[in-house]
Amino acid sequence: MQNPICFFDSGIGGATILREVIKVLPNENYIYYADSINNPYGNKSKDELFKIVDNIVNKLLVYNPKLIICACNTATSMVLNDIRKKYPDITFVGTEPAIKVVHDYYKNEKSIVITTRGTGESERFKELFKTYKTIDCKLIEAPDLAELIENNNDTYDYLKKILKNNLDAEVVVLGCTHFPLAIKNLKRILPNATFIDGSKGISKRVKVLLNNNLNDKKGSIKVISSKNDVTDKVLSIIKDLTF
Ligand code: DGL
Repeated sequence: MQNPICFFDSGIGGATILREVIKVLPNENYIYYADSINNPYGNKSKDELFKIVDNIVNKLLVYNPKLIICACNTATSMVLNDIRKKYPDITFVGTEPAIKVVHDYYKNEKSIVITTRGTGESERFKELFKTYKTIDCKLIEAPDLAELIENNNDTYDYLKKILKNNLDAEVVVLGCTHFPLAIKNLKRILPNATFIDGSKGISKRVKVLLNNNLNDKKGSIKVISSKNDVTDKVLSIIKDLTF
């Protein structure tokens, strides 16, 4: 088998990134590590999360990956810099709330960025927000949303509660890779909003990075789960093109 591209997230959310990368690079071998047992990352301390991610990186290095995609905004915002320092020879691609898209294309719209608590309170995100925040852009933390989605619980009432003061939002940045999986309820509550996530930007970046190192034959997808097997869930997210 040719060297794979590895992904990890606190469960199924990062599959929303995997599906975009597969669209652009259909022939690669993919390994997706779903760390559902440690979900949610967003409520963990930085030290705790560093240990969790370090452990996953060690497991993935066994496969000699072309690169590792941290398909999680929270892990990227809180610990990826430190992980990069520990593994200087490995190429990591991080995931960050696509707030620059608002800055570049929706400057005058009323916009909101929804994140986990860990992302919203991280230094890295605060810096990003300061750099790209437009006049009418608000941060909304949703500390329970990733967990509700991971456990297949209904998100409607929770979303209604956290969005109640922003029902006129025109642009919504989904700053957690789990959140696109609640798109049906998000659209019920904000039917006229434009939703943005970071998956397209990541797929472009991965293609550029692997420019001369692509497979020419059809690849495979392997899902590793730290709790219950989520292979079927991950595969159905990849096939679902509703977002
Ligand atoms: N998918 C992760 C993210 O993008 C979920 C975080 C969590 O487990 O709290 O932030």
